[in-house]
Amino acid sequence: MEQRDTERPGTRHKELWTGEPPSANPFALPRGPLGRVAGWLLASANRGAQAEIMDVLDVPEGAHVLEVGHGPGVLIEMLAARPDITVTGVDPSAEMVRMAQRRNAAAVREGRVRIRLGGADSTCTDDESVDLVVSVNNVAMWPRLDDGIAEFHRVLRPGGRAVVTWHRVPARFRLTAEEFAAIESAVRYRFGGVERTELPSSVVFSATR
Ligand SMILES: C[S@@+](CC[C@H](N)C(=O)[O-])C[C@H]1O[C@@H](n2cnc3c(N)ncnc32)[C@H](O)[C@@H]1O
Repeated sequence: MEQRDTERPGTRHKELWTGEPPSANPFALPRGPLGRVAGWLLASANRGAQAEIMDVLDVPEGAHVLEVGHGPGVLIEMLAARPDITVTGVDPSAEMVRMAQRRNAAAVREGRVRIRLGGADSTCTDDESVDLVVSVNNVAMWPRLDDGIAEFHRVLRPGGRAVVTWHRVPARFRLTAEEFAAIESAVRYRFGGVERTELPSSVVFSATR
């Protein structure tokens, strides 16, 4: 890969992207009965944000979309409402994989949606096979920021788009300015450019391969 003249991101950070797995917080990596409750709450609390993000994804006709860290699968459901596109979802939580499969059972049966275990840096997806890769509200849980962004770059076709979003609201979930800057810098480092958009609920970073 061509080296760009930005500092390698994700190395100065103290709290995030240290290589540690997500905390025991059931929203960060939902597990067991508490994880199922967390998934149910996520599905209702984040539905509005997912709808806003869906509006700006601008999914091309016939696209193959990869969603990383889909949680209960609400955005997959919105994507699958478009019969021309196919969706792959990956999440490291077995609870979330099951919940998203149940929510999208008809599209899974039709073969338009596939959902499996995986993480931002391990999507088990072929090189240059995806038109759009999207991550909503999970970039702060990735063990290493740059490894995830590198994986997004690897799986995208030339001309494909990466979209990484995180909460603007509620305020308690908002990242610091430095943490948002680290995400922006990581995307710019791999993709050579990045666009930042502030939606009512989310900050959105997008880049074209
Ligand atoms: C706060 S939930 C967000 C779920 C959903 N995207 C939403 O906005 O409602 C965080 C999700 O990220 C997933 N996750 C945790 N570590 C991850 C990683 N390394 N890569 C991708 N997803 C991860 C969790 O399993 C969980 O489903």
